[in-house]
Amino acid sequence: MPLSTWYQLYGAALPKQWLQPLHHPLLTQHQLTLWVMRDDLHHHNISGNKWRKLKYILHQALLDNASGILSFGGAYSNHLHALAAAGYQLGLPTAAIVRGEASSRSNPTLSDAQHWGMNLEFVDRQQYRRRQEAGWLAELALRYPGYVIVPEGGSCAAALPGVAQVWQDLSHALNQQQIASHIDHLILPVASGGTLAGLLSKRPSQTQVTGYAVLKGARWLPDEICRLYPAARQNNGWHIALNHHGGGYAKCSVLDKSDIDLLAQQLTLPLEPIYSGKALLGLFRDIAAGLYPAGSRLVFLHTGGLQGARATLKLR
Ligand SMILES: Cc1ncc(COP(=O)(O)O)c(C=O)c1O
Repeated sequence: MPLSTWYQLYGAALPKQWLQPLHHPLLTQHQLTLWVMRDDLHHHNISGNKWRKLKYILHQALLDNASGILSFGGAYSNHLHALAAAGYQLGLPTAAIVRGEASSRSNPTLSDAQHWGMNLEFVDRQQYRRRQEAGWLAELALRYPGYVIVPEGGSCAAALPGVAQVWQDLSHALNQQQIASHIDHLILPVASGGTLAGLLSKRPSQTQVTGYAVLKGARWLPDEICRLYPAARQNNGWHIALNHHGGGYAKCSVLDKSDIDLLAQQLTLPLEPIYSGKALLGLFRDIAAGLYPAGSRLVFLHTGGLQGARATLKLR
């Protein structure tokens, strides 16, 4: 029964080692304490923030007896990869509109998705830009009757409650490890903004949330976050760091890539250069610049996406 599979998927205890302290000379030098929340450990294929964002979307689709779920993404999308894996596990058909670079049609991300039964439709960039237009969505709804249509990245109101549970898990893990529960900063990578919006919906007042944008020129992001979670406009406990994008989405310089690899080695933490590595490198550079006051207690949300590291990244 798919609903019982959903309960198995989401009913398990937090993974062992979900909250880990990180050790690094820079942290000692700046008198900071840093933990990582290993959301990448929840599930091998439904990883990180996707596991959280999809939680109630999948639940509702199963309750409503939906015919399937259709979503949108690029050719290396962690979201499509996770959705395909979840659909396969739950017996729920999945389909995707893929922004189609013809050359990447058979990459490992999409091969997995197809293996899990996801139906892929490739469209060019111009058509893909129409992904929020009512006209095209209505056309897709006719072609995929009974399917739930989920926006790119899974970022929509239904994704927020699953993400907000990070706080509950964090306070549980701090308690279990007998660590005083006060956290000053929660840090995470940001792309479409859904994860940050979900965190803001239940943010404890003593914790500032800082998102590190992995996209270039993402000045629109605060507005997008407020669209997803309107109360964010009255909430001043958050901020987006816009200058650590490293040249743009999925771009990385040779120097940044080697700094990310070094950090991964020093921290004994798996990182990829598109999200977790880029954001953590940004955080360490901001720590070196003195942006986090001595004595602060920080947690970094590892949002998963390690499957994306199989793609060959063009280094600048
Ligand atoms: C691994 C990973 N981390 C972070 C993000 C950013 O999350 P959001 O799009 O909710 O800002 C994404 C998705 O885009 C992702 O795949």
